[in-house]
Amino acid sequence: MNNLTTLEQEIFAKFSQLESKESLEKLKIEILGKKGTLSKLFQDLATIDKEKKKEFASQLNILKTRVLEQFSILHTKFEQEEIQKKLENQTIDISLSAPTKPQGKIHPVSQVIDELTCIFAELGFSVAEGPDIENQYNNFTALNTPPNHPARDMHDTFYLDEQKELLMRTHTSPVQIRTMLNEKPPLKIIAPGRTYRCDSDQTHTPMFHQLEGLYVDQNITMADLRGCLDYFLKKFFEVDQIKMRFRPSHFPFTEPSAEVDIGYEIKNGKITIGQGDQWLEILGCGMVHPNVLKNAKVDTKKYQGYAFGVGIDRLAMLKYGINDLRSFFDSDVRWLKHFGFNANDVPTNYRGLSK
Ligand code: PHE
Repeated sequence: MNNLTTLEQEIFAKFSQLESKESLEKLKIEILGKKGTLSKLFQDLATIDKEKKKEFASQLNILKTRVLEQFSILHTKFEQEEIQKKLENQTIDISLSAPTKPQGKIHPVSQVIDELTCIFAELGFSVAEGPDIENQYNNFTALNTPPNHPARDMHDTFYLDEQKELLMRTHTSPVQIRTMLNEKPPLKIIAPGRTYRCDSDQTHTPMFHQLEGLYVDQNITMADLRGCLDYFLKKFFEVDQIKMRFRPSHFPFTEPSAEVDIGYEIKNGKITIGQGDQWLEILGCGMVHPNVLKNAKVDTKKYQGYAFGVGIDRLAMLKYGINDLRSFFDSDVRWLKHFGFNANDVPTNYRGLSK
């Protein structure tokens, strides 16, 4: 009896030192295995005389039951601990705060589109869209571009079929047609997007970006166009004054037409936009040609409008000092890390476009 009490104390002392399922299994073999301490005592029963046997056997069974119970308790405990550990290592902790510095960067082209959208929204322009694959009617014919015009030439235009019916749009001007056909004037839209021409060198890529502007209403004049462009360029380059000149030009879809240059100077290798004696061509514009308005079912007796088209990539290069256009589309993550923008710094008019 006494021996069994001591044995029980010894066994439970061992239990209290266990730390894992493995050590529990080991102890189980030590006690209840073939040569285990308790198993041995059961074997010894055979040698004990009858009177004591019954009593001892009953005590032994009680001890065995207690030990088994404790095994089962500890087994469950260790198993739960293991699961808990696994869960801690494997789950995503949704209570963790987001990284303070976002990893991704906004591409300069996306940044400039956002900046331009902010500026023109302030002037009441809304954003319109058109498809990259156009028909030649919207891209050329409706825009008053005669059949033999050089812009239609195979060298400039990516045609998609033998009949030259479908093409990759060569400018965003077809969005003018789509908008005027779909909505009634007054119309005040910008259309940023991808454009395509068969050309490639340091300042030309086969795919590039333009932003089209169109304002159709009553009593619209070239002075309104000038005022709008002056405001946009000052805001965009974040300067108080901008030197700007209109140079007579020709586009089939505007009359009169102009190209706009802005003044700049280079001092100590740094370019300053808006002042200086050098001129930089920046966009094409003019009053929408009456033929275009007619093709788009706008009443030319009542309405007139202005339009402009500006190269988005060119604006990005100038504002952010990037000198090779091709690098825009190389998908080099080191370039993007250097020239890209913080995803949390969304351009706004009141907080600033780029700062
Ligand atoms: N679509 C012309 C171009 O790609 C730009 C332009 C747009 C000119 C609107 C006048 C008016 O060069």
